[in-house]
Amino acid sequence: MATLKLGNIGSLVTYDSNIEKMVSHEDIEIVISDDKVIDIGKELGHADSFFDCKQKLVTPGFVDSHTHPVFLDSREDEFHMRVSGGLTYEEINNMGGGISSSIEGVKKSSESLLISKVKSRMDKFLMLGTTTVECKSGYGLDTKTELKSLKVIDEVNKKHKIDMIPTFMGAHDFPKEFIDDKDSYVDLICDEMIPEVANQGIAKFNDVFCEKGYFNIDQSEKILNVGKKYGLYPRMHADEFYDSGASSLAADLKVASADHLMEINCTGIEALASSGVVGTLLPGTTFFLGKHKYAPYKEMEKNGVYVAIATDYNPGSCGIQSMPFVIMLSCIYLHMNILEAIKSSTYVAAKSLMMENEIGSIEKGKKADVLVWNISRVEEIPYSVDSQQLKLILKNGKSIFTA
Ligand code: NIG
Ligand code: FE
Repeated sequence: MATLKLGNIGSLVTYDSNIEKMVSHEDIEIVISDDKVIDIGKELGHADSFFDCKQKLVTPGFVDSHTHPVFLDSREDEFHMRVSGGLTYEEINNMGGGISSSIEGVKKSSESLLISKVKSRMDKFLMLGTTTVECKSGYGLDTKTELKSLKVIDEVNKKHKIDMIPTFMGAHDFPKEFIDDKDSYVDLICDEMIPEVANQGIAKFNDVFCEKGYFNIDQSEKILNVGKKYGLYPRMHADEFYDSGASSLAADLKVASADHLMEINCTGIEALASSGVVGTLLPGTTFFLGKHKYAPYKEMEKNGVYVAIATDYNPGSCGIQSMPFVIMLSCIYLHMNILEAIKSSTYVAAKSLMMENEIGSIEKGKKADVLVWNISRVEEIPYSVDSQQLKLILKNGKSIFTA
């Protein structure tokens, strides 16, 4: 098998799972064979090809563990209603905007149109240094359109260099027809959608928007438990706009990840900490919605919660695809230090996808998802976020981009 050496690295910043810490190695080399890292050290000898990192920074590729990329059109009018009209996300939702306004577009779109939309979104993620991305369905809300959305993810994933991890999210909102009979929609998810999604083997996770006005605690618990029975791992949108006790449910069900958490309380934080459930924070959404209350990262960290960060890219509440931008927001508004932000956007994000043994750090035996930067210090990532920062992107050991 042909080998590639990344040499003359200024510093390699990565999580090291042997010592369970972020590390920085100076003047180091990495050898890659096929799609894996096979060696890391000094003066490693001959390889079939060589990339000169010119004393710059090397990090793992980003893992974006929360996105909603299967939609037709963006909803920039809602953005302007918030900034100029003074309306909130919840008010716009109650006026007929929000998630439900993206449903029609996905229902009527052909599979091939959605494939081309999702493909170009994936091109952009990859060019920004995201090498693995979790992708949710959830703008279909009927069996046929949810299955179509997951099929779109599967088709793009088969051809695209980025790795897409599929999540079924039939429980993203209630379709209009079920607004007065919400439990019947929960039954439809449990009795028809989940069995068929599992039968087709096209999702790894099952996600629920557990929130006031969306799925309540009992409905969320039912959907996640039925999913578990069918082999779908649970994850949740929890305590985003209101504290509804969703984080405690996340802990009881031992979900892979509880996400958003802008309104999590002390009990929720302790529950996540003691259950080892990852809390995924999405500061891009708080920022994009013009809200001021960010998730309480410091409290979570003090209590020992594993914290990931992700974009939440979707047509309504967050149009941001850049993990470096999310890192900048995490440093400013969550008060993360830069090494915490890198760990949260690589290793812990991989853990939230139950993939930390394969991706999320540069270590022997792991996938060669590697970023070589145009900058020398990790501190420059949030500082120079609007410049072209990447020199080389390697995905599964293959070069995607060189500058
Ligand atoms: O994660 N919170 C629920 N879902 C999305 C919003 C989706 C939309 O507005 O289309 C989110 O923020
Ligand atoms: Fe979301």
